[in-house]
Amino acid sequence: MNMILLGPPGAGKGTQAQNIVRDYGLVQLSTGDMLRQSVASGSALGQQLKAVLDAGELVSDTIMIEMIADRIAQPDCKAGFILDGFPRTNEQAVALDALLDEKGLNLDHVIEMAVDDAALTERVTGRYTCAKCGAGYHDNFQKPQKDGVCDGCGGSEFTRRSDDNAETVANRLKEFHEKTAPIIHYYRQKGRLSQVDGMAAIEVVTAQISTILNGGGARV
Ligand code: AP5
Ligand code: MG
Repeated sequence: MNMILLGPPGAGKGTQAQNIVRDYGLVQLSTGDMLRQSVASGSALGQQLKAVLDAGELVSDTIMIEMIADRIAQPDCKAGFILDGFPRTNEQAVALDALLDEKGLNLDHVIEMAVDDAALTERVTGRYTCAKCGAGYHDNFQKPQKDGVCDGCGGSEFTRRSDDNAETVANRLKEFHEKTAPIIHYYRQKGRLSQVDGMAAIEVVTAQISTILNGGGARV
């Protein structure tokens, strides 16, 4: 099974992708994580990418399409994958269709996570991640069971993203509405789109997604 989670910054794509990995054994392909790894590597390309990420702008379609094509070609993706953060423009959506056609792969689900803009800034600015295993948390909405200790691996170091400040989030949201929201219509026209209420509690959203992946829920 191959699928896309589509939604604005803070919609819960990464949170839900981790739950789908746990429940369905798919591989999470987060283009944001891939880009942040490239930045962390300290390469010349990484330095250029950091400036784009910190400004809340989109990285070029050429770089992103090549990145995802390379990743999908890796053997672990045969188990099925969740695209988290890709495609983000019409050009990326068209290129993805061509890539999947070429490889004889299906796109089984495109799930839009609908969230009010007003909720997103609080979600993003309160987010933090376990430095050891990458598990995601939130200051108010998703705390570890024991304060300061990761539920998953027991780690005690956490990181926050440099683009998770109110100013950058505003730009990321603007980019979403201008460049990414139109692809919702692209997938609707193709009859592939399902929608979940991303404003609901995390476990409720997980249940809504499971219903869709198990063959329930109408296309919108
Ligand atoms: P990326 O890393 O993809 O960031 P994003 O799309 O802005 O999305 P986020 O990761 O911020 O949010 P999310 O939906 O994963 O939410 P999360 O689950 O963490 O991209 C970063 C940058 O890379 C882009 O700005 C761009 O520059 C570049 N980029 C990436 N892909 C690109 C592409 N294809 N083309 C061009 N450029 C690209 O949840 C957020 C918080 O809310 C968490 O703390 C969580 O605990 C909490 N939360 C989640 N769900 C709920 C809920 N239901 N209720 C309450 N709290 C919740
Ligand atoms: Mg994410």
